[in-house]
Amino acid sequence: MRYPAGWLDDLRARADIVSIVSEYVPLKQKGRSFWGLCPFHGEKTASFKVDPERGFYYCFGCKAGGNVFDFIMAMERMEFREAVRYLADKLHMPVPEETDGAADAQRRTLRESILRLNREAALLYHKLLYAPEGRHALEYLHGRGLDDRVIRLFGLGASGEQWDTLTRTLREQGADDALLVQAGLTVRKQERAFDMFRNRAMFPIIDARGNVLGFGGRALGDVQPKYLNTADTPAFNKRWNVYAANLLRKCRNLARVLLVEGYMDVVSLVSCGVEGVAATLGTSLTPEQAKLLSRYAPEIWVAYDGDAAGQNAILRALDIFEEAQIPVRVLVIPDGQDPDEFIRAQGKEAFEALKPLSAAAYRMARAKDGLDLSEEEGRTKYAMACAAILRGVKQPVEQENLLKRLMVETGYSREVLVQQIGLSSAARPAGRTRQAAVRPPERFEPQGRLRAERTLLELLCFGFVPEGTLSADTFSDEDHRFLAQELLHGRKPEELLLSLEDGPRRSLLLEAMANEPKVVNDEALRMIAECVETLRRDWIEKRIASLQANMSGASSEEKDVALREIMKLTNEKKSLGPGRKE
Ligand code: CTP
Ligand code: MN
Repeated sequence: MRYPAGWLDDLRARADIVSIVSEYVPLKQKGRSFWGLCPFHGEKTASFKVDPERGFYYCFGCKAGGNVFDFIMAMERMEFREAVRYLADKLHMPVPEETDGAADAQRRTLRESILRLNREAALLYHKLLYAPEGRHALEYLHGRGLDDRVIRLFGLGASGEQWDTLTRTLREQGADDALLVQAGLTVRKQERAFDMFRNRAMFPIIDARGNVLGFGGRALGDVQPKYLNTADTPAFNKRWNVYAANLLRKCRNLARVLLVEGYMDVVSLVSCGVEGVAATLGTSLTPEQAKLLSRYAPEIWVAYDGDAAGQNAILRALDIFEEAQIPVRVLVIPDGQDPDEFIRAQGKEAFEALKPLSAAAYRMARAKDGLDLSEEEGRTKYAMACAAILRGVKQPVEQENLLKRLMVETGYSREVLVQQIGLSSAARPAGRTRQAAVRPPERFEPQGRLRAERTLLELLCFGFVPEGTLSADTFSDEDHRFLAQELLHGRKPEELLLSLEDGPRRSLLLEAMANEPKVVNDEALRMIAECVETLRRDWIEKRIASLQANMSGASSEEKDVALREIMKLTNEKKSLGPGRKE
């Protein structure tokens, strides 16, 4: 599925990047561009630049950058299509693929109608909480340590004690019975329609865009079931959503997302001042939820209940995160408690002092379950189980640490354990970490050459290179060469940017686009010539070095040829002058 290119260009052109960015970051104009404090990393002096002409932003500090879609994706943690839709909504541009196709349009309106009903329901539940009908629910929530501030933050509510408070009220507001049933708010039995949720504390499930997708309802006492959840509806698919996504979205620079089991755990942790918490929706974790969570922080900490069920669910969650190559750790809650019980009893400091375990360390700890390490049999089984776990650990340093621990715990020698690790078939593809697209370190590269190639790219980006003065072959770095080729062929940098995936080429282009070279027009030619000279000199030096290196094993004839070339190159180099030292 693709958007028509023309439409996307149109949208990008109409979205004024300065005013979009200004909604999040105060900007000040300086010359042709705008500057502000980078929203992607903490800083005190403005190194975040927005270029309205080319429609892109770039941070000289953290190197974040891109066009208006990239900005919305990063700020709102959206996927590309979501960002496109978000901007299109904002600018009142109909999204093409949705206007054609009547079935699609119908599905969309059904979804929207349900979301509207849900919103009304959430408002009503919240209002009821402070009405006589919600007295018990309010007492219950207060009794669990929640104050009105948190209740408002999560939009908690109460479903009425009567059969049909909600159904009746929404009907009076014009809601259609069939729709109420489709939204999962109303249940019809024989001829009677009554509320799905009665006499419960209500937890609205709100997505990152503020839509009320459904509800979880907590019984006020020991009534079964303890929690009642909205079943999947045309507007709600549990597989793709998590609880408290609306609050996650607002957290900036989170170091980790904390994944817990229960609604109450989320509310309770947040109310105690712990940020960035989410929960699954009464089902076990899905790969889609794992991916969704990974948008909000570089790693996920799983903090499920300390009971046996919770601990087993952790092992399954680890598999899912690792399968999706999402960095994950485990926060074990002591004494079989859940996070809510723990933080209520011990406080925020004690909670934040809990140290997360790596996935492998957690699996090793669990491999001890039911084994007696004071017996040889227990130690053997444990060693074999851990060898399988260690085989999946790709970070040598971590493997070494865990191996040392295993030696102490089992008394086996390093040789034996290493051998065992080699024998065990990997239990799972554990320990893979996400590989960011980073360039290899440049410390070992001659600064002069790279600097010269970058300067040439900057000159190219800003249109200072007259046709025919430069060839892409001049560039020795493959990524530089690629970019130069495209720009020399007349590709506009901002268009080239659109076609590049995250990676070194994109970063290099952004950097070049952001670094406007300080030249008056006729100076450009001199700069180009200087850069080209630097590159030639560098090439000559490398060539001479390699000729000299090959000399030792060569025949006298070959040596002769090499020496002659070296002489020629040396002369050329002299004619280039000494060059500037950097
Ligand atoms: N759950 C559910 N249906 C149940 C019990 C639990 O859907 N009958 C889901 C809910 O999403 C709940 C989560 O599983 O939030 C965790 O359940 P549990 O640990 O039993 O509840 P707590 O979060 O501890 O809730 P509370 O503290 O209110 O007892
Ligand atoms: Mn609990």
